[in-house]
Amino acid sequence: MRMYDIIKKKRDGGELTPKEIHFFVDGYVKGEIPDYQASAFLMAVYYKGMTINETRELTFAVRDSGVTLDFSGIDGIRVDKHSTGGVGDKTSLVVAPIVASLGVKVAKMSGRGLGHTGGTIDKLESIPGFKTDLSEEEFISIVNDLGVAIVGQSHELAPADKKLYALRDVTATVDCLPLIVSSIMGKKLAADDDCIVLDVKTGSGAFAKTVEESVRLAEVMVDIGKSAGKKMLALITDMDRPLGANIGNSLEVIEAIETLKGNGPADFTEVCVILATNMLYLAGKGSMTECEDMVKKAIADGIALETLAKMVKAQHGDDSVIYNPDLFEKAKFSREVKAEKSGYIVRVDTEGYGIASLMLGAGRNTKEEEIDYSAGITLVKKTGDKVEKGEVIAVMYTNDEARFDGAVARFNNSTTIKDEKPQERPLVFARVE
Ligand code: URA
Repeated sequence: MRMYDIIKKKRDGGELTPKEIHFFVDGYVKGEIPDYQASAFLMAVYYKGMTINETRELTFAVRDSGVTLDFSGIDGIRVDKHSTGGVGDKTSLVVAPIVASLGVKVAKMSGRGLGHTGGTIDKLESIPGFKTDLSEEEFISIVNDLGVAIVGQSHELAPADKKLYALRDVTATVDCLPLIVSSIMGKKLAADDDCIVLDVKTGSGAFAKTVEESVRLAEVMVDIGKSAGKKMLALITDMDRPLGANIGNSLEVIEAIETLKGNGPADFTEVCVILATNMLYLAGKGSMTECEDMVKKAIADGIALETLAKMVKAQHGDDSVIYNPDLFEKAKFSREVKAEKSGYIVRVDTEGYGIASLMLGAGRNTKEEEIDYSAGITLVKKTGDKVEKGEVIAVMYTNDEARFDGAVARFNNSTTIKDEKPQERPLVFARVE
């Protein structure tokens, strides 16, 4: 078999056989297929797409490219939640402790920021001392004791995705359905959960920009997960505006803590309640209404917040910041962003807001770059809000003052203010079972 023939077949719109797909993935992981051939293959997939059979086979090849985990040492039902990536999306920090506090195990493996989107692992590492690289024994023992632990992905898990993602990132082939599916589901299937709830984002800050694309993405992921024996469910949630009021690592952890205290922004709280409800429902804890009541009670009683604090302590973090978020280190500099005209904020380019936050230091431009954990943006006004010219619409934070001008320009270019009030968008567009 030759990689040249596989690229040509896909370029001409042919359907690849399982053998051809495994030949590509295995050869690429071993370093036998060079980046230039892999890039040509990815671009051919980008333009010609893949059938469901090819997408499933690519997902299985990614899963089988490294170790698969064994969570049989964890007692009880294990449920995971995975977001396709967004801006201000700190839902895992809220839903994981809620669900764990209600008796369902969450052995969560999360990622770092990708492109303009933030990552749970970077957010957690803004908590002083917090360790995201536990041994398998310690991870399983914390999940058994507290119901939840969140760690980064080990290097041995789905190495094909690691290599392919880095290549997609620099060859403009990220936003491609079969490649997103195989990347996310290849990793999810290599872990050992019983149930998976997918939070498929849609809109200007998501990799799938339209609701139709997002529903299709959800359907394919649910289908593939089920064919691998998992209980699956997906929600299509809005990412045409950032979720909540904060973008940036410690700012988002603080917002998650406030939400677990019952003081979170309405949009973010609603999405967290819906996701946690669906996780419990999928794990068989009751009807949707019963599960929703349990979730709201776990927030009101403070047991979900307590579970987060215990998890932070068990993962070597300073749990005093959970009870007193003022202890988080503050950025040295802040700058207000003012409305350039009067009217309603009718539209924001959420990806642009994510990039503005990265420009302040909240993300990396290169793999090696250090994150400024206190950098980011607090949104004072959001889509649909009325503003007066000169009114503060956001506050930016950074430890490097020189970063402000570029970030403010990017932010303003991503904000559209007009006279007419925009139509409200739903927070959840669809549920795919
Ligand atoms: N998240 C992933 O892990 N992979 C993708 O391709 C997109 C989002």
